[in-house]
Amino acid sequence: MSTSKVFTEFTEGLRAINSSPDGNGPGKALGERFKNATSSVYDMAAAGSAKGDIWNWGMHDDAVLAEIREVIPGFARYDTDGFSEQLYFLALREVPLGLDEYAGKSVLEVGCGLGEGLNFLSRLVPGAELTGLDLSTAAIDRAKARLSRSGGLTFVHGDAENLPFEDDSLDVVVNIESSHTYPDFERFLAEVARVLKPGGWLTHIDTFTTGRYELLTRLKKESGPLEWVHERDISAEVRTAIRRRMTPGSHFRRAFDAKRMPLPARVLGEEARKAIFGAKFAGFPESRRTRLLKKAGLVPALTALPDSYRHHVARKVQGLAP
Ligand SMILES: C[S@@+](CC[C@H](N)C(=O)[O-])C[C@H]1O[C@@H](n2cnc3c(N)ncnc32)[C@H](O)[C@@H]1O
Repeated sequence: MSTSKVFTEFTEGLRAINSSPDGNGPGKALGERFKNATSSVYDMAAAGSAKGDIWNWGMHDDAVLAEIREVIPGFARYDTDGFSEQLYFLALREVPLGLDEYAGKSVLEVGCGLGEGLNFLSRLVPGAELTGLDLSTAAIDRAKARLSRSGGLTFVHGDAENLPFEDDSLDVVVNIESSHTYPDFERFLAEVARVLKPGGWLTHIDTFTTGRYELLTRLKKESGPLEWVHERDISAEVRTAIRRRMTPGSHFRRAFDAKRMPLPARVLGEEARKAIFGAKFAGFPESRRTRLLKKAGLVPALTALPDSYRHHVARKVQGLAP
């Protein structure tokens, strides 16, 4: 399939998923087509990736950063702006388990991308069994090649709506900036509830359109195996990180400039980055060049744009009647 057709199917699917007033997905057939487009988009992103790339918008919160620096004293010397890692840290921080309680616990990240965020978590919770799952085979191949080690950190290819894990088998499921592309969000939550052990935790961070947020709010109210215990709107913190990243000379921009790529790919990549990495969410107006490239189908024309970015934590209730 051509790049422009992949982008068209991806953006149409995103619109169908995120713009319906009640957040309901696009139906099974369109959903499966959309998943193929999603995996192709992230396969392309993986092909142009470098070691250390994390694919989320990031957040900036002084308190979170100070805590990371306390737990990892060398963090300031990492070659990163630290914004994406803050989202990962937040994901575990709000789960009521101490970092020293993770030894021997099984943690799954659904939608792990290149696995670098999970690799960061492995520094916070040594001794935990961490598994990353993603729909993109190219992302998983890279994660395996760059990061897999025997025991501790493994990666599998799979679909969030069909998790290849036994019932009641995992302690914690992490999901960061991925679920807005799942056609059937309710099914994903049912899968998480199935694979978590009773008393296990889901920590979920993502963008929300109004419809998608209404859907989650409705699902949270339904009595089911997940009991929702925490919610925080982190839109302001995410916007701060994006604005800092878009500033000329930022670490994010320098890392992109350092990638080896032909000029056309650099121009397209720069515009796609603005479209994909939240520039509009953070209030940056679209340039004429971006609009033209979108019209030509050369960068994704995202339309169902989110209006908030939120963190939720849920626990699988214990002792459910069979
Ligand atoms: C924006 S990236 C975020 C990656 C990572 N969580 C992070 O924060 O950097 C979204 C990821 O979700 C994955 N994804 C999308 N749909 C998926 C699905 N149905 N099942 C599993 N992974 C999926 C994509 O392939 C991509 O790697």
